[in-house]
Amino acid sequence: MHSKSKRSNFASSTNERLDKVMVPWMSGLVSGLQNRVQQFESARNLSKTSDILESFFICMTRIYSMNKEVYIKGKKFEPLFPKELLAEKIGKLASIIEDELTNTKNPLYVVMLNGAFMFAADFLRCLNGSVETKFVRYTSYSGMSSSGSINKDAQLKEVDVKGRVVVVLEDIVDTGGTMKAFVDDLLGMGADRVLIATMFARDKSYSFGDKVSMHPAMVLKDDAFIVGFGLDYDGEGRNLPDIMVHL
Ligand code: IMP
Ligand code: MG
Repeated sequence: MHSKSKRSNFASSTNERLDKVMVPWMSGLVSGLQNRVQQFESARNLSKTSDILESFFICMTRIYSMNKEVYIKGKKFEPLFPKELLAEKIGKLASIIEDELTNTKNPLYVVMLNGAFMFAADFLRCLNGSVETKFVRYTSYSGMSSSGSINKDAQLKEVDVKGRVVVVLEDIVDTGGTMKAFVDDLLGMGADRVLIATMFARDKSYSFGDKVSMHPAMVLKDDAFIVGFGLDYDGEGRNLPDIMVHL
């Protein structure tokens, strides 16, 4: 009994060490390697090596996080992207958006509730200086699929957006239906240009029009349903710090 509890103490402190030391260390190592590889790739017009490194990192994370699955309403979700990787990607996305807006006066940042709240909190804190932020709520999802019809619970006014560049912060662009509805409303109210900064997009082509550019922090290679980091399954799981996947 005594030695068993000692063993389980040892196991949990080992897991804690893995979490606090190994994951951040691996994340830093992989992102450093990725930067080097990306420089190499762009110098020689190559691609894909950094994708392979990222896939390797994701595999490693899943192997030693296997005991951390969660069940939500009877469905099993397993770790996919650790919070360290998300933080890395968000920092890079924030720099890309700031570079795009170098000569833009008074851009408006709009957070799409509910799903984008956690991503937006991290993203906005990566920006330099003060920006104006508003919140809207457009919903289309029911359970694990898009319902096709869009509900608008909180909207912007024309005076907020007329003549301005608007940066939309979203958790995930899936079919693109929700985003298209919002972007069309923004352009209809006279927005000059729209930048979509989304944590995730699916691996497909979206067309939102000439005045719109989309910048995903990460592209999901398949259609798997994910939760965590603000994303929910039927109202649950938004609090999970890592991205978990239902396979
Ligand atoms: P779309 O209109 O099909 O692009 O759906 C976008 C919205 O659906 C997102 O803002 C999310 O709230 C939700 N959504 C899409 N895929 C997922 C997922 O894998 N997990 C959780 N929510 C999702
Ligand atoms: Mg959303």
